[in-house]
Amino acid sequence: MNLNIIILAAGNGKRMYSEIPKVLHCLGGVTMLERVVNTAQRLEPTSIYVVHGNGGEQVKSQLSYLPVHWVQQTKQLGTGHAVLQAIDKIPADDQVLILYGDVPLISIETLESLLNNMPKNGLGLVVTELEDPSGLGRIIRNPMGNIIAIVEHRDANEAQLKIKEINTGILTAPAYRLKNYLPSLKNKNAQSEYYLTDVIALAVSDGCPVGGVLAGCPEEVLGVNDRQQLAKLERYYQRQAAYHLMLQGATLMDPERFDLRGELLVEQDVIIDINVVISGKVTIGANSTIGANTLISDTQVGNHVTIKSHCVIDGAVIEDDCVIGPYARIRPGTHIKKNAHVGNFVEIKSTKLGESSKVNHLTYLGDAVIGKNVNVGAGTITCNYDGATKHPTFIEDNVFIGSNTALVAPIRVGKNATVGAGSTLTQDVPDDTLAITRSKQKTVVGWKRPVKSKKST
Ligand code: UD1
Ligand code: CA
Repeated sequence: MNLNIIILAAGNGKRMYSEIPKVLHCLGGVTMLERVVNTAQRLEPTSIYVVHGNGGEQVKSQLSYLPVHWVQQTKQLGTGHAVLQAIDKIPADDQVLILYGDVPLISIETLESLLNNMPKNGLGLVVTELEDPSGLGRIIRNPMGNIIAIVEHRDANEAQLKIKEINTGILTAPAYRLKNYLPSLKNKNAQSEYYLTDVIALAVSDGCPVGGVLAGCPEEVLGVNDRQQLAKLERYYQRQAAYHLMLQGATLMDPERFDLRGELLVEQDVIIDINVVISGKVTIGANSTIGANTLISDTQVGNHVTIKSHCVIDGAVIEDDCVIGPYARIRPGTHIKKNAHVGNFVEIKSTKLGESSKVNHLTYLGDAVIGKNVNVGAGTITCNYDGATKHPTFIEDNVFIGSNTALVAPIRVGKNATVGAGSTLTQDVPDDTLAITRSKQKTVVGWKRPVKSKKST
């Protein structure tokens, strides 16, 4: 069976009160539309069509890398009209699945259950029951329990409004059925729209079977119309992500205060303290601990690593047994080798820090290659930028850099060398030497500090 997926995303999203088209708002760090496309792709369809509206150029240009066909619906005349824009492009014998760009958490399991359980050559719907079904289309069944129609909230009578079984909007059908029914939709309803949902009654009168499957849980079929709904779904998503990590052996000090905005792989006995935000692709090895209020993106953290609180780490590799922070900032291109220590108020960029080396306080290392067992004193700065070009700094094994040293790059400090505190180095330092550029200390005997004169009243 060739599967074609149509994702509706042309609505105005008025209730978001935003310059950004609704489907470009993010959930778990990924735009809602991209989430739906990712789920759609897992069904291995022959093609995916995204129906976009007027703000569509922005959607298209921001998500141009998605493997989809973009179809414009110039006027938002309803969900039925939206599907009609794409249906011509799909061969009659193919299967069609309709998803929504603002229903971001639909699960692959529910979609597979729909595709596997829909009646042969018939229509399949995903339905759910809600305590508060207001605003949604109600499922109308005949006395035998068969679905015979969907009535929109605004068009429903009092008895129909009491029905709690609702239409999620997600629907599958052979393309020829939709090609048949869509052109005969009418817009004689409360919203003067061409409703996709009216296809159900048309199908029933045509003798076409209609089946419904239940969504795995209500949250996965909830749509986002405003920012409150988006925030509710975000929390639901984050709670699920936290539970998933706990099942893999991670302790989350408070699963309500954890944010995953990308992908995180954890090994056993990882401990994550509160308010940690993970984005991009992150892996954390066994027995590692992440302190409170730390941001980590696109980084590999090894085993037995301690990252203390308030660190910002991006694009780094941190090997086993390292200790980082508190208050460390580690920027892209940094590789911290085994058992190295990076302390408070240290910024590191595009630097290799060798095994068991220590950079414990108030330091900037940029474009540096640092060997093993190096001690970098407090207040050390690699002066890597001359205003035009970045230059490298090499510090070889067992070097000791005294506090408050400026290393004017390009520069090399040879192995076992010692640099005296307060030095500004502009030349290479040979192996096994002491380099010091400190000016001589003066002592003025009997010197008196100025005294404040008393104010006359
Ligand atoms: C729709 C269903 C309703 C269901 C509910 C579930 C219809 C008529 N009603 O109602 O039965 O309970 O979803 O959330 O289908 N869109 C377009 N072009 C248009 C109109 C809409 O692309 O011209 C897109 C929107 O961007 C949105 C989706 O279709 O993603 C649903 O449209 P919306 O107007 O929100 O329908 P609902 O009133 O929520
Ligand atoms: Ca909606």
